[in-house]
Amino acid sequence: MATITAVVNLDLPGPTISRHVYGHFAEHLGRCIYGGFWVGEDSDVPNVRGIRRDVVDALRALGIPNLRWPGGCFADDYHWEDGIGPRDQRPRMVNSHWGDVVEDNSFGTHEFMDLCELLGADAYISGNIGSGSVREMSDWIEYLTRADDSPMATLRRANGRDEPWKVPFWGLGNEAWGCGGNLRVEQFASLARQYATYTRDHADNRVYRIAAGAHEDDYHWTETLMRSFDPLDRDDRPATPFQAVSLHYYTRTGSWAEKGKATEFSTDEWYLALSRASWMEELVARHSTVMDRYDPAKKVGLVVDEWGTWWDVEPGTNPGFLYQQNTLRDALVASVHLDAFHRHADRVVMANIAQTVNVLQAMILTDPESGALVLTPTYHVFEMNRGHHDAAALDVHLKGAPEKEVDGRTLGLVSASASTRGDSALVSLSNLDADTAHTVTLDLRGRDVVGHRARVLTAPELAAHNTASAPETVAPRDHDDVRLRDGRLEIDLPAHSYVTLELTLS
Ligand code: AHR
Repeated sequence: MATITAVVNLDLPGPTISRHVYGHFAEHLGRCIYGGFWVGEDSDVPNVRGIRRDVVDALRALGIPNLRWPGGCFADDYHWEDGIGPRDQRPRMVNSHWGDVVEDNSFGTHEFMDLCELLGADAYISGNIGSGSVREMSDWIEYLTRADDSPMATLRRANGRDEPWKVPFWGLGNEAWGCGGNLRVEQFASLARQYATYTRDHADNRVYRIAAGAHEDDYHWTETLMRSFDPLDRDDRPATPFQAVSLHYYTRTGSWAEKGKATEFSTDEWYLALSRASWMEELVARHSTVMDRYDPAKKVGLVVDEWGTWWDVEPGTNPGFLYQQNTLRDALVASVHLDAFHRHADRVVMANIAQTVNVLQAMILTDPESGALVLTPTYHVFEMNRGHHDAAALDVHLKGAPEKEVDGRTLGLVSASASTRGDSALVSLSNLDADTAHTVTLDLRGRDVVGHRARVLTAPELAAHNTASAPETVAPRDHDDVRLRDGRLEIDLPAHSYVTLELTLS
């Protein structure tokens, strides 16, 4: 078996890994909001003002940093005034993107901001450019964040909320190249500047505005948005009214018509999914390179506000609801993405996995009949990585890791990233090899390691997943296969596993 070495210079901390790359996304889609987050005050499911208590507790345990809402494609159909005031008087609308169902707007601005407060998460609101107006967007931010007796602040008070909220993140449209209006990028760049101008900072609320960005490898989209930036102002910031551009990329093994099954897949499809997930590394690197040409000081952020697996829906569920199971393969898709975000912490300031509950690569699944809550393997990767939030990235130099040619790309079968904060460090190691365990020797330089704790996430089957009747099939456990040898740590990675190593440094 080849010797794999990971060299980490513990005394050379790099850029901060923003906790916001561990962000989440909740769209009015299927059972994400209704049945996922929101059950209503009269539900038998324990709730706080209509919001599921167990979902809040589970996400708080992850240190959920931000939540993006109300979409997705839904955001560019959403008119926020329909979601305020007495619930039984709110107008209805058709959710034409997702199942063509009637949306009663019972979950609106107040409910979302209440949810964010319960979660301790920052709000990331996606504003409507596709079918909205500048005035609508301007009024919404005034309604949310203004303290005095302005018209919108007065309306908010009349609806029961005295104090303004804080809204740190604001999306300018969503997928403007597609469901957000089918716009040309030149047209959208002008609109983004215009809408951003009226997304005002009220009182001490400072908004970080994110222009709807590219699909996958559409570097022209990023380039055109970056070209629309103004030169730096006197404080060395771009004077352009938005501060970041976004990027969307979903992992699937098939076509959009037949995306691949969540729980039934071959070993070849295991590798194909992981190879496609690893494309995120190239995507963020190349979009960053485009951004570097216009912004070498890296003042403009790259926000990957939709990523994750997109499989065929579970049999018997509404095709428009995007409900899918989540296996060990999804967990490793997540860890590979998170490694890429850590490695590009100087540019990737935020990311939002799609989506939080019951939709696509969810953290949490809820049973529609019993209401039971299941934590997915992906949830556990997020939990095991909590130590990376706002820690300083460390480079990991891997030597001797096996590789496999998949779909025209070379897939490294071990993926790794690391970070440090004070007297601790966290190393994340993914063994993507379906069949073979690997041992990694950690050559940890620059500081003394005085303690360690390892945890592992794995299961006998590649497609192992959690259900209401077997909720712990894939769950982290302590991992003892770590040895100190000649001043180096040797750690065994079981086949198809995710391992974290927490180090105590002197
Ligand atoms: O996350 C599901 C959908 O995927 C979003 O609504 C849209 O932005 C993307 O195409």
